[in-house]
Amino acid sequence: GSLVLFQGGNNQSNLTAVCIAHKNMMMLVVIMSLAVFACKGLVEALPFPAPNFNNCNNSQGCCPAPYNGTISEKLYVFDRKLPMRTRPAAHLLDDAYIAKYQRAYRLLKALPDSDPRSWKNQAKLHCAYCDAAFNFDVLTSSGRSSTMRFEVHYGWMFLPWHRFFLYFHERILAKLLGDDDTFALPFWNWDNQSPEPPLANVIPLAFGNPMYDNKFQSSLYDERRSRCTKWPNLIDLQDALECANQTLELQTSLRQWNNRLMYTQLVTAAPISRLFFGESYKLGSAPGRGGGTLGVTPHGAVHVWTGDPNATIPSSDMGILQYAGLDPIFYAHHGNIDRLWEVWKSLPGGNRKDLSQADYLNTQFLFYDENAALVKVQISQALNINNFRYNYEDVPNSWIHEGSDAASAPCFPASTSEINEMIFNTPPLSTKNFTTFANSSITFRVRGPLEKQLHHEEVLVIRSLKLQQTSPLILNAFLYFPTANPTTPITCIEFFGKPGGFFNEFSPTLPDSKMEWRLALGYKLQSLGMDQFSHVVVTLVQLGLPQIIQLKNAQIVYFDE
Ligand code: C2O
Repeated sequence: GSLVLFQGGNNQSNLTAVCIAHKNMMMLVVIMSLAVFACKGLVEALPFPAPNFNNCNNSQGCCPAPYNGTISEKLYVFDRKLPMRTRPAAHLLDDAYIAKYQRAYRLLKALPDSDPRSWKNQAKLHCAYCDAAFNFDVLTSSGRSSTMRFEVHYGWMFLPWHRFFLYFHERILAKLLGDDDTFALPFWNWDNQSPEPPLANVIPLAFGNPMYDNKFQSSLYDERRSRCTKWPNLIDLQDALECANQTLELQTSLRQWNNRLMYTQLVTAAPISRLFFGESYKLGSAPGRGGGTLGVTPHGAVHVWTGDPNATIPSSDMGILQYAGLDPIFYAHHGNIDRLWEVWKSLPGGNRKDLSQADYLNTQFLFYDENAALVKVQISQALNINNFRYNYEDVPNSWIHEGSDAASAPCFPASTSEINEMIFNTPPLSTKNFTTFANSSITFRVRGPLEKQLHHEEVLVIRSLKLQQTSPLILNAFLYFPTANPTTPITCIEFFGKPGGFFNEFSPTLPDSKMEWRLALGYKLQSLGMDQFSHVVVTLVQLGLPQIIQLKNAQIVYFDE
């Protein structure tokens, strides 16, 4: 068996070479065990090198176009002469821009599949980076070699990878428009709940109308979308599977819930980088250990709300991650995600900044540029948006105020003695077995830390295993609210996050046993005035059809960044 067989033998790193050298010298058991030891330490500290496109293996036809040229060892160089482009909000486009936008996608869809920039090849590229197409053989802690799939979602790579993906997508469209370097990709401003037309939180007109302008079939339309997306339905970030008749009254509530969801996931649930970006992911670690708050919900919710709930592989779009890149709205959706990354960094609080670990910064990817050359990029290049020479049209982020705790009310007020009684009457999770939770809600208590650590973020970690995943898992989490149920609105001040996730339903390797949910507690306990109790009481509520979830344990820990 091979010891350390990095994907494609595409070894840029000296550390990798050390391991390979040991492997070749391995004649004696003694040397081998030394090599195992040496490589193990090194592997754990390595960022991912760029994958090898010519060594891609995927049963669902997701491999991107192979490359015959030579990939430069040097990192991609941004064109400093590009004009500054402002990515416009899709709901505010004028007819001329919509016409250009549609022409760009018509031209893209007309490229032959032999062109690595083609429509299908771009969707495949996204799929390959998330569907076991690039595998890395690594050493496990027991010293054995094991193959791990590579996955850009559900971990810290999510935002930078998609920023690059969109950038090259945009450059390719600009090229096809006849080197129109002013072209900027519109973004779908679904977080904007303003009731004033034109509405932002619906499918933008150019996407939703199959015959835009009655002239020609819209290249932005996709027939495989949920019936929820029909005009004039508002998006539902909180319960993306729900598709009730939207009365005016329900629409008023939806706006409030969407604002509340945005505020919670970007402000109270994401006070520090680790919670916002997600868990570390480097060579040797299992994929899917935990996405950040923006990447799980709302990102996943928009996919699920837009996608056809009856879709089966491989004919489906937005709701199935592997095929999401086949709906043009994917790129407008991710424009908003990318914009919200910048919004998050601009929020007050001091701890909202990009990650700075070397293994993160040195992680590399490959993309086809507008000239069909395969170029190498690295996460460190993605963090400063000015490198890309685009910015976003200014739109209100009203959820910062309208969804805030200050704008919410307690729904389960309780006195100190009532809280103590609640703690006493609530069981902890079983320490021996998994606690099964198949109903609409579960309530358990978790012991608080013995000593408060100032300047560190108090986080509730729930280790879960064996998710049934019959459909996307949609959960609301409440504090000190044991009667919370599926009809409890998230506008209650006790709402504090949305664990769960929108997994690759067709990738049985996810999620693995290391999956955890992490929910920030500190700020919320303060705003509830509840930071003096021995335990927290947590209620998880399942929306949609309840599925079997088995929880392993829950613990309160401190994170420092
Ligand atoms: Cu790569 Cu919205 O997913």
